[in-house]
This record gives sequence, structure tokens and C-alpha cells, in this order.
Amino acid sequence: MRILAVGDIIGKPGRKALREFLPQLKDEIAYDAVIVNVENAAGGFGLTQKVYEELLELGVDVMTSGNHIWDRKEIYSFIDDAHNLLRPANYPEGVPGRGFGIFKKNGVVFGVINLMGKVFMECNLENPFGVFDEIYEEIRKETNIVVVDFHAEATSEKWAFGIYVDGRASAVFGTHTHIPTADEFILKKGTGYVSDVGMSGVWYSVIGVKPAQAIERLKLGVPRRFEVEEKGQVVFNAVLFDIDESTGKTISIERIKRFL
Ligand SMILES: [Fe+2]
Ligand SMILES: [Fe+2]
Repeated sequence: MRILAVGDIIGKPGRKALREFLPQLKDEIAYDAVIVNVENAAGGFGLTQKVYEELLELGVDVMTSGNHIWDRKEIYSFIDDAHNLLRPANYPEGVPGRGFGIFKKNGVVFGVINLMGKVFMECNLENPFGVFDEIYEEIRKETNIVVVDFHAEATSEKWAFGIYVDGRASAVFGTHTHIPTADEFILKKGTGYVSDVGMSGVWYSVIGVKPAQAIERLKLGVPRRFEVEEKGQVVFNAVLFDIDESTGKTISIERIKRFL
């Protein structure tokens, strides 16, 4: 099974890149399912129901997210009914939405887990390593294909997690930093791994935000409203995992970068 993982989609430019490249890549590499991190899909902050539906129409099979999924109040009104949307599974009991799901595409059943790291993240989270162990056992009753979006800041935490789940998860892709890393590997026991897929949005920006606003905040230390950079060339970042359906292990991993 070929799974295309797309990192954080930044507002309108990111959605435009999906509209352009998902059909193209379908023809070129015949992926079976596409997972997209949508925490910045609506104007750079969170997700609206309208954007959720737009992404479904574009053919996105599973949406993962992270700390920014709560940026728009509207999310609370539809997250429990958004069956293709996940939020990190290690939020405490009582947080709406769900953190993992079992999906089926082209006749193949696969599980997706969304987790968030704890290092440099200001969230009240349970430990993602332990939460993975519990959910993994659940999913394994249905399928041996288990894909994880590990939404985290520190590459060290991401690598530690990758090695911790090596041989159990089929694939682990990192999100959140918006910066792609060149460390895609098949780990020793067969887990396809990359620390961060990187964002899709205007590349001449500060992780998707208008540079002048980010620079002012960093230089002067004053609060500044952030807006998505919408002018300029758009980069599309993704990683393709080819997973052996009988073993649940990754047999090839490839980074994909396109410009619009
Ligand atoms: Fe993000
Ligand atoms: Fe994030």
C-alpha cells in the first residue's frame, strides 16, 4: 500500500498546492491513500467545517492535526462528527475528537495515530510513548498497517519515538516545525521514518507567516498578529511510504518536493 503523507498545509496557498499536486501524483506514483496535517489549513490557524469539506473533496483520506487544531472555536461544533479528522491522541480524557482511526482504501485496512510530542510543547499531554503502546494493540486487532503523525518540535524526541516504535509502526512522519528534514530512513526493524515532512505554503515566509510580522515579533519582542503569506511561489512537501501489506513494514520511502 502506498501512503502519501503531506505535512502542515498553510492556508489558501497550501490548499492550492493540494489541488494541483494530488491529482498529478495520483497519475505519477499511484498512491492509495493520502494523509494530510490540517492544523493550519484555514487561514493558517485551525480548521473550519468548510475547509474540512473542501479537503475531503480534494480526495484527502485522513486528516491529522496538532496544537493549532483548536485555534477556531468552530472546531468544537464539528470535530466529533468529522470522521476523517484526528487530533493528537495524547490529549487528556474529556478533550473532544479522537486521536486514532481505522480506515479502508482500495480494499486495504490501515490505522492512523496522531500523537504530539512533549518537549517544548506547552500542552497538557499524556506521554505519547505510552499512549502509542495502548492504541497500537487496539489497531493490531484489525490491521498490521499502522501509520503515525508525530507532531512535535524536537528532532531528538521524534527520533527517540521512531526507534521506540521501530518494527511496530509501519511509518512515522513528523509534522509541526513546517521545515522538511532530509533524514528519511527505513529503520532497522522496518518502520519508515522522517522527522518532519515540512509545510505546503509560500516558501519565502517564516514557516508560512508574512516575514515582516515574524521578524518584528522576534526583533522587538512585542506581540504581533500573524497572517499567512499568500504572495509568492508555493512549495508542496510530502513523503511517500510504500508499505508491504503482508508484513506491515515499509519497503521504500521517498521525499517529494514540488513548486507551484
Ligand atoms: Fe503547523
Ligand atoms: Fe503544530
